[in-house]
Amino acid sequence: MIDYSQKIPNNVDLSHDKRLQRALEKWQPDYIDWWRSMGPTDFNEKEIYLRTAVSVERNGWAQFDYVQMPDYRWGIFLQPAEAGRTIGFGDHQGQEAWQEVPGEYRNWLRRLIVTQADTEPASVEQQRLLGHTAPSLYDLRNLFQVNVEEGRHLWAMVYLLHSYFGRDGREEASELLERRSGNADHPRILGTFNEPCEDWLSFFCFAMFTDRDGKFQLLSLAESGFDPLARTCRFMLTEEAHHLFVGQTGVGRVIKRTAELLAEGKDPREEGAIPFEVIQKYIHFWCSSSNDLYGAEVSSNGANFFRSGIKGRAYEDRYEDHQALNDSYEITQVEGGRLTTEEVPLRNAMNEVLRDEFVKDNLKGVEYWNRIVEKAGLEYRFRLPHRRFNRSIGVYANHHFDLDGNIIDASAFEAKKHEWLPTDEDREYVKSLMQKVTEQGKYAAWISPPPKGVNGQPIDFEYVRL
Ligand SMILES: [Fe+2]
Ligand SMILES: [Fe+2]
Repeated sequence: MIDYSQKIPNNVDLSHDKRLQRALEKWQPDYIDWWRSMGPTDFNEKEIYLRTAVSVERNGWAQFDYVQMPDYRWGIFLQPAEAGRTIGFGDHQGQEAWQEVPGEYRNWLRRLIVTQADTEPASVEQQRLLGHTAPSLYDLRNLFQVNVEEGRHLWAMVYLLHSYFGRDGREEASELLERRSGNADHPRILGTFNEPCEDWLSFFCFAMFTDRDGKFQLLSLAESGFDPLARTCRFMLTEEAHHLFVGQTGVGRVIKRTAELLAEGKDPREEGAIPFEVIQKYIHFWCSSSNDLYGAEVSSNGANFFRSGIKGRAYEDRYEDHQALNDSYEITQVEGGRLTTEEVPLRNAMNEVLRDEFVKDNLKGVEYWNRIVEKAGLEYRFRLPHRRFNRSIGVYANHHFDLDGNIIDASAFEAKKHEWLPTDEDREYVKSLMQKVTEQGKYAAWISPPPKGVNGQPIDFEYVRL
């Protein structure tokens, strides 16, 4: 038997919800089995300095202590309900927000929730071997923090499936523990979540770009007229901010280390650091792959989700018109090998509107990296690839573009590919640097120490008891 209030911190009155208890009683042991077989390898018996959310209050959502990961208290938290909340956009704007799933939108909602949910365990699977090559105890701890919180995000989505979708919700919840990242027969739903993430530069880029897709998906679902979904996503966003921090500052510390060596006139390769050009290629890869996660530029699904009030725009309240019926959006298309533009109704361009926010947010990260380079007195500048570059989904898939988004032919792309995307050699080189560093306060040669530790602790703190 599970002691609900202790084991599963929650603000959904789990101890009085028999139906949810029964569903979780079956799912929770399967989840722990999944964690033990697909979560971080070999560290399950170690004590990790982790934060746990035990309530949604200010002093409760980030409690720090040593925890063994399988004992992590994966909780179920929704942002407290807003009395009288109404739907903020689409055809139902102004109506009372739904506390139950509206029958006509049930399938779309379930699909949105399952797609979001699937990314959470996927990323844990992608990152499961990284503990063996962590550049420091600080980074090892951050990796595990991200992992347990992605686990909690899975819990959050499973709560919605169990509580609001009956039998097919329970079936979807089980399947979330059965698909496997990168598995040819039973892969995760979205492409990026099947990409191997085998070294720490990939991990930091993933947390920078792929978790940032997560942020914008959550922001748009946080607007949902289905109130339990909106409130669940709002709370998830508090945790997501840390994942983005790990990504942006992680890449920043790799850049800083290389920048310092260059400023001293040294060759980064000779010092076991990562050349700027290689870092830049990793950025191109993960940024372009994450661009795909927003889906097709012109999308009737996107229009339907908006029209029905189940998925809004990020920061919907910043817009004046929440109907999006009168405006259009100019999409660049490819026609006969040339770029042309086409006006589409704004509702059909919702994926692109969200991608715009993503690109804007990414640019701030790049500026942060470039300040590090500038401070070292170097000319080099990092950049984002154009959103058309290296795409597998949408109107730019099956065409070739350079980093600035100019259309080029396949042979021109092939000739340049090695300068734009990580080559086997680059990956081998980066992997060769991945040696684990476990001494307190020591950092691998390819990354600079963080300016400060976690939760006010020093950077040489024992973040993991090995
Ligand atoms: Fe997540
Ligand atoms: Fe995340």
